[in-house]
Amino acid sequence: MPSDIAVYGLGVMGRNIALNLANHGMTVSVYNRTASTTEAFVADLPADSGIMPTYSLGELCDSLARPRVVFLMATAGRVVDLIIESLLPLLDAGDVLIDGGNSYFKDTQRRWQSLADKGIHYLGMGISGGEEGARRGPSIMPGGDAAAWPLVREHFERIAAKADDGQPCCRWIGEGGAGHYVKMIHNGIEYGDMQLIAEAWQLMRDGLGMPATAIADTFAAWNDGVLRSYLIGITADILRVTDADGSLRVDHILDSAGQKGTGRWTAVDALETGVPLTLIAEAVYARMLSSLKEERVALAARLGGRQPVAAADQAAMLQAIHDALYAAKIVSYTQGFLQMRTAAAAYDWQLDYANIALVWRAGCIIRSRFLDDIAQAYERDATLPALPFDDFFADALRGAQAGWREAVAFGIRSGIPTPALSAALSFYDGYRSADLPANLIQAQRDYFGAHTYQRTDRAAQQHWHTRWTDDRQEVAVDD
Ligand code: 6PG
Repeated sequence: MPSDIAVYGLGVMGRNIALNLANHGMTVSVYNRTASTTEAFVADLPADSGIMPTYSLGELCDSLARPRVVFLMATAGRVVDLIIESLLPLLDAGDVLIDGGNSYFKDTQRRWQSLADKGIHYLGMGISGGEEGARRGPSIMPGGDAAAWPLVREHFERIAAKADDGQPCCRWIGEGGAGHYVKMIHNGIEYGDMQLIAEAWQLMRDGLGMPATAIADTFAAWNDGVLRSYLIGITADILRVTDADGSLRVDHILDSAGQKGTGRWTAVDALETGVPLTLIAEAVYARMLSSLKEERVALAARLGGRQPVAAADQAAMLQAIHDALYAAKIVSYTQGFLQMRTAAAAYDWQLDYANIALVWRAGCIIRSRFLDDIAQAYERDATLPALPFDDFFADALRGAQAGWREAVAFGIRSGIPTPALSAALSFYDGYRSADLPANLIQAQRDYFGAHTYQRTDRAAQQHWHTRWTDDRQEVAVDD
C-alpha cells in the first residue's frame, strides 16, 4: 500500500516525527542518506509500525501515494538545497515538499518561489519542542504555498501538541517564509526567556545567597502563577539535580552558552527592519559574553568580582525579582510581536497574532500560560499596535514596575549583570516616554552633518537646518 508521507532525514527530530506520524495511523516511508541509520532505526520497530524503510530516492518517491508528500528534516543551509535538487527529478507537479528544519526564512522564501515555478508545492514549517515535542506533539508553524496546506493539514494537526482546550497547536501562518519567520521569532523569544530566568536565578543565588533547594522551590512556586511555563518548570527541575557527592549538577556545568544561530538571526533581522528588539538582542550578546570565559576569569581577578549587598527584606526582594521577571517577559513578547508586525508589512504576510500565540500554548519551548493572555489581547483587538496598548498588559506592567526597579537596582548595587531585565526596563521607560532626548541627537547630526531636523511647532513635512557654527540662522530645507 502506498505511503501517506515520506520523512527524509532520520536524525533526532526526523525519526521522532516519523514515529509520531506512524502512531497517528499514517504509513510513513523513511529515508536517510546513510543507509545504516535507516537500518538501525527500523531494526527495533514492530512489523506493524507503519514505518516503511527505503534505501534510494527512487524507492522513496515510488513508495508514496499521489500527490506525493515529502517531509525534510535536515540541517538548515546548503544541505536543504542539495536535497531538493536530488529529489526534483523524481517529483511531479502537484507534489508537496516540506522543510521542517530551522531554515532561515529568506532561504525558504527563495525555495518557495523557485519550486512554485516547477509546480511543486513548497512548505517551510517551523517545528518546536525538541525531541520530546517531535515524538509526542510539537508546536507546528506552517508557511509557504497556501494551496498545499489543505493537502497535508490533517497529518500535522493530528501529530501536533494539543492545548488545554484540545485545540492542535498547528495553524496556518502565512505565505512564503512566514512559517520559518515565526519559528525564528519563537527562538528569539526563547533566548530572551532563558536569559531572564538565568538572571533571576543569579539574583537569588548571588544576591540573596539562597541555597539551590530554596531557589528551586521558588521557581516551582512561581510556576503555579502568572509565570507558569515549560522553561520555569524545567529550571526548578534542573536546580534539584545533584551529583553523587550531593553537589549541584548545574554548578559543575561550564558557564558558556552555545547557540546554533536562530536567536542571532532574530536580532539581526530586527536591526535590518528597524525594530527595537533590545531584550532578545541582549540575550544573544549575553551568550557571546559568556563564551569569553578565560577573559572573564582573568578580569574577575584584576577588577574584583561581585560585591553582594544584603537585601533589606528577602521576601520583598523575592517578590520584586518575580515581578521583574514577569514585566520583562511582557516586554520581550511585546518586542517579538512588534517584529512580526513589521515583517508582515515588509513581506505582505497576513499574520494572525492571536493564532500565533495559540500555536505557542503547547508543544514548543516557550509554551506558557502567558500565551493565553496574549491570544486574548489580540482577540480583543486584532489591530493592537503592541501588548502595552491592551489594558491587561498595561495594568500588569504598572503593577510590576516598582518591584522591577528594585530588582534591577539590587543587581546593579550587587555587581550582578542583568542585561535582559535592565534592557527591558529601559525599553519600557522609553516606549512610554512622550519626550525622548533624540531631539538633541538631531541637533548634533545637523550641527556636524547638516542632516536637518523637523520642528514640533511647525509642519512635520518641513525640514530645517541651523547654521550652528556661523550666524546660527535657521533655514528651511526642501528635500
Ligand atoms: C525548539 C528549539 C530548537 C533549537 C534548539 C537549539 O523550538 O525546539 O528552539 O529549534 O534549535 O533549542 O537552539 P540554540 O542552539 O539556538 O539555543
